[in-house]
Amino acid sequence: VTLFRIYLYNTFVAFYKYNKNMITGSYPNLRLRRSRKNDWSRRLIQENSLSSSDFILPIFLIDGKNKKQSIKTMPGVFRYSIDKIGHIVDKAIKNKIPMVALFPYTNSKLKNEIGTEALNEDNLVCRAIQYIKKRYRNEIGIMCDVALDPYTSHGHDGLIKSGYILNDETNEILINQSLLQSEMGCDVLAPSDMMDGRIGKIRKALDKNGYQLVQILSYAVKYASSFYGPFRDAVGSRGLLKGDKKTYQMDFRNSNEALREVALDIKEGADMVMVKPGMPYLDIIKSVKDNFKIPVLAYQVSGEYSLLTNSINKRLIDKNSILESLISFKRAGANAIVSYYADRINEIIL
Ligand code: PBG
Repeated sequence: VTLFRIYLYNTFVAFYKYNKNMITGSYPNLRLRRSRKNDWSRRLIQENSLSSSDFILPIFLIDGKNKKQSIKTMPGVFRYSIDKIGHIVDKAIKNKIPMVALFPYTNSKLKNEIGTEALNEDNLVCRAIQYIKKRYRNEIGIMCDVALDPYTSHGHDGLIKSGYILNDETNEILINQSLLQSEMGCDVLAPSDMMDGRIGKIRKALDKNGYQLVQILSYAVKYASSFYGPFRDAVGSRGLLKGDKKTYQMDFRNSNEALREVALDIKEGADMVMVKPGMPYLDIIKSVKDNFKIPVLAYQVSGEYSLLTNSINKRLIDKNSILESLISFKRAGANAIVSYYADRINEIIL
């Protein structure tokens, strides 16, 4: 009798689940192509869309005056001297882009083993933050990377000893870099270095120094990836970097580990988390979103940008591929996307 009861119960549960998930109807009553026939109808049932508020625009900075320098490996992306960024920011505000991300191309003469330039209050990023804040106040957010790679002579994100990137020692510098950028007016600090424990330490230091409202966007899930190649060109660290970043960035074979990274960073005080690169890691975006229900950002990195752009320029694929790639982040659950297309987004999402 008990066995029979269990059998009945299981049958009921199975039937209930089946019905709940079942797509009702069947061909020929049901024809999914009906709603695809016209453009208005397709628009009516579309599940995802993009607006310019979903984008963060990266800006590469270079020293000097009146400079707009092309980046060989990133067609359509430029390095700007600070006096030229007004144009870019004007346009971003007009297009309702909520935030820019600043990345410096640091003169190699200013680089050393310990990345001292990161703590120079007159460095490119500090000057750019002040320039933008003075002109635009809170009309647009400013996000800055917290990491040492644009400033070190070896191109790594932290201090190095016998070939190994030191964790706790690096954190001490990242704390100071965070405080400096906050003092300059940075709104969102984005630690992209993948040191353990840095989010908690940075949050604590910010709070202690009166920066309770400076946000932290943790690059919580950052893979050791080949897709960063063009970016390293853009910030001038490519030729310097020996080896790889596998002792601190994540192994691309792992996904459970991504959830552990995110869980830790939330506990330590991250307001938002980033998954990076983007398109090869849509599964990670989705599982982070499903598991934690927090703001998740995707970074469509330089390699993704250049692959798409070069293929479009060579007419291997058409330019709608850009929209398709960007929508995929939305479908996966991303709240916003860092993209080098953000300055042209209004032509893309028409
Ligand atoms: C530096 C940093 C990198 C990117 C953003 N911040 C490169 C790296 O970790 O080597 C990559 C962005 C891109 O490829 O567009 N910590």
